Amino acid sequence: MGIGEACVRTFAAGGGKCVILDLDQGRGEELIGQLPSGLAIFIRTDVSAEEQVAAAVDRAIGEFGRAGILVNVAGISSVFGPALIENIDIALWTKMMSVNLTGTFLMTKYTIPLMKRQRYGRIVNIASTAVLGAGYRGQAPYCASKASVVGLMLAVTREGGPFGIRCNAVGPGPTKTPSRTLLVQKEREIERTVPVGFIADAVDVANPVAFLSSKLARFITGQLLFVDGGVSIPWNIDHIVPVAEQA
Ligand SMILES: NC(=O)c1ccc[n+]([C@@H]2O[C@H](COP(=O)([O-])OP(=O)(O)OC[C@H]3O[C@@H](n4cnc5c(N)ncnc54)[C@H](O)[C@@H]3O)[C@@H](O)[C@H]2O)c1
Repeated sequence: MGIGEACVRTFAAGGGKCVILDLDQGRGEELIGQLPSGLAIFIRTDVSAEEQVAAAVDRAIGEFGRAGILVNVAGISSVFGPALIENIDIALWTKMMSVNLTGTFLMTKYTIPLMKRQRYGRIVNIASTAVLGAGYRGQAPYCASKASVVGLMLAVTREGGPFGIRCNAVGPGPTKTPSRTLLVQKEREIERTVPVGFIADAVDVANPVAFLSSKLARFITGQLLFVDGGVSIPWNIDHIVPVAEQA
């Protein structure tokens, strides 16, 4: 299950109506079929194409009348394979930026006017531990795109605050999803790098997204929350001062 699907299932379990925008029509429609009727709709959308986003948001608003929560999840990661910065083709760089960053920008651009009119909105941008770079050698476009959605989140926080709009980012660590096939091959190896000792399921990321979108988090905005089992702390220097495991 992907992080977007887990978010939809989490919100739907609480009775929330969801609009799913994604390129993958098959996966989207399959999910709709598994949810209670009338709770969700799917609109095939390329989030990097402005006219498609504008039309999709328009239709979504027409369908449900309001937009309380926007979760910017759609993204691509190492689809092109790791490459050192001097070998990165501009077309690959542009592709990564257009989906991960421009997609987040466009979804926000077309949703925020309604949120402002409602004087209510919650936005969560899905970033990554890649904003810190560790473990992402050879993935400069991904690191840069994810750091940029954090910068965008900060800008939206300033602009949206006076209109009752809160905006945060979640930075997942390694999470078992369809896009992370590498994790399947290297699961044990990766688990050893996570302080809590396991790789997340998508729902482990969806739960904090739901929390940040809820009134429990009403005083939290402009924050990047790492949901990563501890991989973002600099634990890999621990060996310098060895500690006996048992007295
Ligand atoms: N899985 C991880 O370990 C991990 C870690 C950190 C961050 N993330 C981020 O979480 C988000 C979700 O990733 P996931 O792991 O669930 O992978 P996923 O492949 O299941 O989800 C990504 C979704 O984005 C959609 N998508 C891709 N390009 C699109 C476009 N142009 N327009 C619309 N939809 C598009 C795909 O169809 C797919 O459904 C991504 O932004 C990813 O970078 C994932």
